[in-house]
Amino acid sequence: MALRHFLTLLDLSPEELHTLIKRAIELKSRHAAGTGSEPLKNKVLGMIFEKSSTRTRVSFETAMYQFGGHAIFLSPQDTQLGRGEPIEDTARVLSRMVDCIMMRTHAHDRLEKFAAYSQVPVINALTDLCHPCQLLADIQTFVELRGSLQGKKVAWIGDGNNMCHSYILAAHQLDFQLVIASPPGYEPQPDVLKRGGSQVTLNHDPVEAVTAADLVCTDVWASMGQEQEQAKRIEAFRSYQVDLKLMSKAKPDALFMHCLPAHRGEEVTAEVIDSPYSVVWQEAENRLHSQKALLEFLLVT
Ligand code: CP
Ligand code: NVA
Repeated sequence: MALRHFLTLLDLSPEELHTLIKRAIELKSRHAAGTGSEPLKNKVLGMIFEKSSTRTRVSFETAMYQFGGHAIFLSPQDTQLGRGEPIEDTARVLSRMVDCIMMRTHAHDRLEKFAAYSQVPVINALTDLCHPCQLLADIQTFVELRGSLQGKKVAWIGDGNNMCHSYILAAHQLDFQLVIASPPGYEPQPDVLKRGGSQVTLNHDPVEAVTAADLVCTDVWASMGQEQEQAKRIEAFRSYQVDLKLMSKAKPDALFMHCLPAHRGEEVTAEVIDSPYSVVWQEAENRLHSQKALLEFLLVT
């Protein structure tokens, strides 16, 4: 297969996305049955983290181990990246040694530049623009519990951030209705919103967004890199908290998702995230299985 990267959800066709999710569910059950295989034996994944991570790091590292391969954790503090070695030089060097590279960074164009100079597949492990790996896990979780997302209503409550952007692209790719309720001044980027086309609606009303929704999603009010805006954002987002009153407007069997880490009492109440609506632990676990399917897709097929 020609070199493929996974920088946004648009890098896979809808058909490839469906196949990947099906494969993730299969890999999950094979792992549970103890019949998993090692398709990435002797393969190495380089993992560049220029921001913190719990789930992404552990899921990729575990995926590589379970597949018979190995993962190397690389942070700016411990590599020459932190001392200013150009990203394009780092890409050329690493990609001559390892088989795949996963990168979490700030500006999306830094990831794009890295990918342009890499001779092995590059995976977006979160940028300020989007978080496509999280969407693979979210889609897998919905499919496992409720079947296809096609034609369903999904509500995004809160910041028009990287996760919101990935939901917009997912709505376009998987043909579901996404209604976004963001506070004024914190809407998603217009160019990303445009990619969502008629699948995506933006307003400022959480009740309207959640009404009759099949899935309700939110995320932190201040993402990594926005810590200094925390106090200002708490004020702006105060009426965008997902609480039980808001959830009661959704369909009775609606699911609640959050990529985590969550701030109980800010974007979501404990009563919601710890309620039967919430599938956040299954969602987090599925990072492992869906990324195994992604690694297999990029490196084996
Ligand atoms: N959801 C997510 O990407 O979590 P981490 O920041 O812990 O990797
Ligand atoms: N929007 C959050 C997601 C964390 C997984 C952030 O970028 O910090």
